[in-house]
Amino acid sequence: MQKNDFKRILVTSALPYANGPIHIGHIAGAYLPADLYCRYQRLKGRDVVFICGSDELGVAIMIRARKEGISPQELVDRYHPMIEDSFQKLGISFNYYGRTTTVTHQETSQDFFRNLAEKDVFVLKTDEQLFDPEAEIFLADRFIIGTCPVCGYEDAYGDQCEHCGSSLSPSELKNPRSTLSDATPELRETTHWYLPLGDFQDRLAAWIETHPEWKPNVRGQIKSWLNDGLRDRAITRDVPWGVPVPEDVAEKAGIDASGKVIYVWFDAPIGYISATREWAKREGDEDLWKEYWQDSETKLLHFIGKDNIVFHCLMFPAMLMAHGDYVLPENVPANEFLNIEGGKLSTSRGWAVWLHEFLENYPADLLRYALASMLPETKDADFSWSEFQARVNSELADILGNFVNRTLTFATRYFTGNVPELVNPSEEDLAVLAQIKDFRDRIGEAYESFRNREAVFETMGLARLGNKYFNDTEPWHTRNSDIQKCGNTIHVCLQLCASLSVYMDPVLPTAGSKLREMLNIKDVRSSVPDGDGAMSGSIGWEEAAEPLLKAGDTVGTPEILFKKVDDDVVAAEVAKLQQISVEDEPGVDPPYKPLADQITFDDFTRLDLRVATILTAEKMPKSKKMLRIQLDLGFEKRVVMAGAAEHYNPDDLSGKKVVVLANLAPRTMMGIESQGMILMAEDRNGRLSLVESSGEDGAVVR
Ligand code: 2FM
Ligand code: ZN
Repeated sequence: MQKNDFKRILVTSALPYANGPIHIGHIAGAYLPADLYCRYQRLKGRDVVFICGSDELGVAIMIRARKEGISPQELVDRYHPMIEDSFQKLGISFNYYGRTTTVTHQETSQDFFRNLAEKDVFVLKTDEQLFDPEAEIFLADRFIIGTCPVCGYEDAYGDQCEHCGSSLSPSELKNPRSTLSDATPELRETTHWYLPLGDFQDRLAAWIETHPEWKPNVRGQIKSWLNDGLRDRAITRDVPWGVPVPEDVAEKAGIDASGKVIYVWFDAPIGYISATREWAKREGDEDLWKEYWQDSETKLLHFIGKDNIVFHCLMFPAMLMAHGDYVLPENVPANEFLNIEGGKLSTSRGWAVWLHEFLENYPADLLRYALASMLPETKDADFSWSEFQARVNSELADILGNFVNRTLTFATRYFTGNVPELVNPSEEDLAVLAQIKDFRDRIGEAYESFRNREAVFETMGLARLGNKYFNDTEPWHTRNSDIQKCGNTIHVCLQLCASLSVYMDPVLPTAGSKLREMLNIKDVRSSVPDGDGAMSGSIGWEEAAEPLLKAGDTVGTPEILFKKVDDDVVAAEVAKLQQISVEDEPGVDPPYKPLADQITFDDFTRLDLRVATILTAEKMPKSKKMLRIQLDLGFEKRVVMAGAAEHYNPDDLSGKKVVVLANLAPRTMMGIESQGMILMAEDRNGRLSLVESSGEDGAVVR
């Protein structure tokens, strides 16, 4: 079947664990790309259902609940609404956002498990696992701690040492103990159900071969798993938080199912199905979910991050194949990871930008646009506050916002707020109008193929085209010399704005609809499931390349679409990130720096250290670290360069009294001669703080 011969599209985004808030790394991986795709497809008029929900079962939830001193249910009840709310504020347009602690999910998962058990798909295996004799419970790897065999760290986890990073198995730990009771675990026999993935190897390999169009990163990972040979995977666990193994199945197998649950990676993808069932029920047609999951004319797409590839491209498809009634995914466009300010994202170290905090301070569209422009589509990407600022200020405000603003200003000021008539258009006028269709097709093709960065770049290209045309036709001259020509320019620019209001909608839904309001354009199809004119508006993606305004139509006065982000805001965000990151460092601090070689007192007296007052500090353009600082030493003023921009907001520095190495030979840095060095203390986490003094300027420090 050809790519777009499908009747309907079912899109899923990875179910986030409800064990903490969402950060922008999550958004860049699985949610924004899926949302861009769905909004685009809805504008195309396609039948799309976008499903997600909270992943609320399994050990990750239990561990977090223990840390917070609450029950797993209390934990998910805290985070599920918070996550849902953040998604909603960001404008992620799910048709349904479910959760895996519902009755529907339990039933759907158990039915699926039962179905496979009845087909004799599973293998049962008995082996020895660590058991806590006091808490009377088998211990998941994370509930066992002991001494790391590699570095000697005493609190290494059963699966990993957080001190040296070694990957471990519980049996390798010395002096293992249970985190639940501190008891020494003992080995006990237990029986589990396994999914024999090896039995599906050939079918999976053949199926993957039918999808040469999948992203190379996804195909690469799958191939490597297949080359290693797929092995049996345990799909049940002895933990007290999960979907219980169905008793009838256990009974038939002659096993006591008490305390046994289905492994979270077996039930979580079934969460997509159970959430679709709940959606269907809400739509008033209980069986509607089947069309989306079981009809071959459905195009199923899973949007995920790269850490989920094996589950969505091998394990879940094997489950679906084994069941037999379901469609397989048509594509799994997995993204790579998003780093933050050059560092690997780490929630435990606080090195993350939290979505809910972000949305308290900035409009959602700004994040959508900036993130979409830097998505880790083919390799890991980096989010930095300065790039965020540049995307907002130099693109959204200076290109798109400016184009809309100057166009509407001319229309209201010189054409009484009416669309001027296009009379005897020049070739250039017509060529620009004709280009709208090319942009429509290029943007659409990019969204269709999951190349979101390109789609967003092309969208901005339409505004760039508008600005160039505006500059080239110089309406500020023609309004005096040839008002008809000026009218043609404004007519064409207004049509561009109108089309843009639709083509920007997937990435900038709020600004798109605000722009349509300014232009009085109604009847555009909605890009959200239940918005005004959902599916019924007469103007969709295709139609929006035609002129949407008629001569004489009234347009409103321009309003600011995007507010610029100030430098001090950016500096404060970076400082906050670093501050939190240092405060939240988990128990393990890096070692102190070893002492340097001994020096004599004479050596010391060669340093001429003086007190000075900082007069001004400014960030060097194109440098993350460097500040240019002007100092007053009492007897003279000097300029020094300091690598402190990541630690201090320049505006906070003036007036501070610091210690300066005043007889250091001048050095040229970034084209500026640095006449000395400001002393700073560097702590074990690399954080710098000024060595301050209360002495008078020029005082000698010894
Ligand atoms: O990695 C994660 O965050 C998982 N909660 C993703 C689950 S995706 C799906 F299978 F539900
Ligand atoms: Zn270690």
